[in-house]
Amino acid sequence: MEIAPKHRPFIIAIDGPAGSGKTTTAKALAKELGFIYVDTGAMYRAVALFAQRRGVSMADRDAICTLLDDVDIRLERTDGSQHTMLNGEDVEQHIRTQEMSKAASDISAIPCVREAMVDLQRHAAKDAMGAVLEGRDIGTVVFPDSPCKIYLVADTPTRAERRKKQLEEKGIAADLETIRREIEERDRNDAAREHSPLRKADDAIEVETTNTSIDEQVSMILSLVWKRIDQFQKGQSI
Ligand code: DC
Repeated sequence: MEIAPKHRPFIIAIDGPAGSGKTTTAKALAKELGFIYVDTGAMYRAVALFAQRRGVSMADRDAICTLLDDVDIRLERTDGSQHTMLNGEDVEQHIRTQEMSKAASDISAIPCVREAMVDLQRHAAKDAMGAVLEGRDIGTVVFPDSPCKIYLVADTPTRAERRKKQLEEKGIAADLETIRREIEERDRNDAAREHSPLRKADDAIEVETTNTSIDEQVSMILSLVWKRIDQFQKGQSI
């Protein structure tokens, strides 16, 4: 797949609530298209882990803004999987717990944190031919001019089941009812915050994933993306 230099980087924005299928979809798209993949949630999780290690409460906004000066976050790819590096340490395992999900949601409501992460995210895509970014505000704030915005949704029981499976695959024990409650709480938190709340961009395509298999979902979105790329390269309005 080639993107004309003047259209680079071609940004695909994937937003939606927890467990809606963003990660699987975004990774599959990036692989298929040869684009880079950016998991923006991992960045908020890494900041939350850093604050927790320093003993700073997620509610102490001034202290959190100050400690950002000491945080260096990089997303690296090794052995075909992503590793989140926090000040040179691979923290991928540490940031995936339910505790860090909640802490990341809390810390992501702080404007100075969002500003720093948005800068990092724009920078990460800068030199790529194309990038697939997944998060909550990619289509609305990080790349509002993205020609290809997808907003994924699925019902809560399905999202809870998916999250349970993901955690178990990582060797983390998980109770379905607790996960369901935490997902609902996180949805409320992410959608109600003042700064860049989770919402569908007006020009995003909403895709309901409750009753679709991963393969169906990916191939459906991929054909949508191909169409957008084609229209975009031909200079048609999309
Ligand atoms: O995608 P995730 O579950 O790893 O994200 C963890 C939290 O980070 C999520 O509850 C809200 C926050 N987040 C955000 O506010 N904006 C993003 N672009 C990505 C994540």
